[in-house]
Amino acid sequence: MNKPNLNRVSLRISAGRADQFPRDPIPQIALSGRSNVGKSSLINTMLGRNSLARVSGTPGKTITINFYDIDSAMFFVDLPGYGFAKRAGDDKKRWSGLTDSYFTSNRHRDLLRLVIQLIDVRVGPTEDDRMMLSYLAHEQIPTVVVATKCDKLSRPALAEAMDKWKTQIGEAFPLLPFSSLSKMGKDELWAHILQTV
Ligand code: GTP
Ligand code: MG
Repeated sequence: MNKPNLNRVSLRISAGRADQFPRDPIPQIALSGRSNVGKSSLINTMLGRNSLARVSGTPGKTITINFYDIDSAMFFVDLPGYGFAKRAGDDKKRWSGLTDSYFTSNRHRDLLRLVIQLIDVRVGPTEDDRMMLSYLAHEQIPTVVVATKCDKLSRPALAEAMDKWKTQIGEAFPLLPFSSLSKMGKDELWAHILQTV
């Protein structure tokens, strides 16, 4: 696929229920990762916008699934962050239920073409990240692992982290270093997306 026109991008819907998920027959690229890992920032960076996707100061606030229509060629799907301990009780259930139904109901329609699994380069992979990765592998959903906030590490520390990750997860999944601050990895991730969908 050619790169879509990034002047034609909009938030289609902030879905709180599965019956609100769009059914347009275009590929969906889903962003998965723990709360605060940088999902919304990555969307803004990829689309060359400053504030299309809301970047939260308060982790774990997004409990909707936000569908961004990219030139009517694909959706970027901003999933709620997981693993935020403070979110308890009902909210947490609602989050799991919604994310769950995204993976189950969408899959049947064959629209989900790629999951971008974000992992904070200084934090992960956490237990939750590993669970998510094994789910994605088990379901055979094409997945790319993106290491976020790479600007926060020095060059040697980043190289060391990537070496370690390569043996931990890089054998099962393609792995890309990324930074929304420096735009590191932006072109590589676009190339991966366009080649996959
Ligand atoms: P939730 O919606 O709460 O799940 O969070 P999220 O995964 O969408 O993260 P978000 O993009 O809102 O970013 C969380 C925080 O990390 C914000 O303060 C961002 O400014 C910061 N951040 C995101 N990406 C980067 C990055 O590449 N580098 C640095 N230094 N900070 C980043
Ligand atoms: Mg977000």
